[in-house]
Amino acid sequence: MTKVEAKGGDPLGSRLGALAVLLYEGERPPARVNEATGGAAQRAVRLGDFRGKAGQQALLYGSGRTPRVMLVGLGPRKGAGAETVRRAVGEAVRLARRLELKSLGVLPPEKPARGLSAADAAGVVAEAAALAAYGWSLKTEEGGKKGGRRPAKGPELKVQVFAEGAAAKAAVRRAAAVAEGTNLARELGNLPGNLGTPTALAQAAQKEGRRAGFKVKVLLPADMKRLGMGGLLGVAKGSAEPPRFVHMEYSPRGAKGPPVVLVGKGLTFDSGGISIKPSDKMWDMKFDKCGGCAVIGALSAVARAKLPLRVVGLVPSTENMPGGRATKPGDVLTALNGKTIEVQNTDAEGRLILADALAYAERLKPAAIVDFATLTGAVMVALGDQRAGVMGTDEGLCEALRKAGEASGERVWPLPLDEGYGDYVKSAVADVKNLGKGRLAGSISGGWFLRHFVPEGVPWAHVDIAGVAWNSSDPGKGYLGQGATGFGVRLAFEFLRARAEA
Ligand code: BES
Ligand code: MN
Ligand code: ZN
Repeated sequence: MTKVEAKGGDPLGSRLGALAVLLYEGERPPARVNEATGGAAQRAVRLGDFRGKAGQQALLYGSGRTPRVMLVGLGPRKGAGAETVRRAVGEAVRLARRLELKSLGVLPPEKPARGLSAADAAGVVAEAAALAAYGWSLKTEEGGKKGGRRPAKGPELKVQVFAEGAAAKAAVRRAAAVAEGTNLARELGNLPGNLGTPTALAQAAQKEGRRAGFKVKVLLPADMKRLGMGGLLGVAKGSAEPPRFVHMEYSPRGAKGPPVVLVGKGLTFDSGGISIKPSDKMWDMKFDKCGGCAVIGALSAVARAKLPLRVVGLVPSTENMPGGRATKPGDVLTALNGKTIEVQNTDAEGRLILADALAYAERLKPAAIVDFATLTGAVMVALGDQRAGVMGTDEGLCEALRKAGEASGERVWPLPLDEGYGDYVKSAVADVKNLGKGRLAGSISGGWFLRHFVPEGVPWAHVDIAGVAWNSSDPGKGYLGQGATGFGVRLAFEFLRARAEA
């Protein structure tokens, strides 16, 4: 785990592997940085080797305690924001890792950006550094016990953000909590199906609850039967792995009022079931639990940052497998709220397990419900890998999420849940069917299906993260590398933080 902390004083005064200096296009390096490099910083600018363009870097050597200085370009100041800073920090960390440095100092831009205070910028730098320093693999190396192998040591980078004042220090501490929750979500999301089982996910939630400070209750199949979770049990039927339902609660002292309930799809491997998927890239379906992982990570972040509001996290978790006992197309299931579901396609399983979780939320008397799910391939057609889709029953809630997305870097875009789309999931034989109208509005059909299970009168939003939950290409985008992105943790945290302050 990467350690990130705030530090005041002379950025070149401590012994660090390198100091990264973030500069806008045309901005001159600070005098003390220039001096520390014996004038090399200025020469790099004068020669035109470093112009501050986005992604541009110059690695310089000095004679001080910190032997390396990285100039890192932010690009033009106009239109810059938090995301500009995150990307540049990502570049700096990438270079530090290539150089196998053990520690890195970062000097945030002097005048960060419009709408971004110096304290905010310090937080943004800390968060991006911790996210960029994260890496995941199951590679091994020699040197284990009895001449065997052991897990290969990943890169460990200590990051110091140079910032003065209590506000900046608080922002960095909060950013560290959020990054820790995000990296936990990524760690769990990256686990392959054989290791990241529903049981393992539930255990990880329990462990994190003890560490971060939230309560965790795990429902077993017998509990699900007793409650009538026909959706979750219906999906789990084809698998040898038993399902789990994780119920987490963060209730800080003094926080009153109804909780916000976060729900996450924890499908640990989606083969499609009897409506089996093509084998091409099926391995990526280990990421189908990323919504659930994000909810566990969000509870962790909220608890670690001690936000003053009540939050509940619900994660229904199972595999979706074909088998002799698997649910078949045409089968009818009964969900927790008593509604019957015609299963026309066993690959539309996420909505089946979320149905029970949404209905279960009723007993918590929620102020609002937000669910996160890798629900549809269709959302990738609509929004690609840049934004998640958001839809729901409450415009204010969707707008609050959109705003939180802009601030956190996990951006979402609204999709409509007009009444007319409701027809797409009407069934001839049951209350609702799990398949929409062919290729028409697949993500909205998913949203409309879920809507049938949302407790009456509770504001609800559904975030479809299928396009943004993981990066399949290396190096991935910007400060997040390959693999699970933890999408949803930063978004949920920022949404809840703003709500707590309102
Ligand atoms: N987990 C998938 C959605 C998905 C697909 C996420 C690709 C990420 C990448 C989901 O369970 C699914 O299979 N959805 C179907 C729904 C359809 C059968 C109505 C889909 O999108 O094809
Ligand atoms: Mn599926
Ligand atoms: Zn799925």
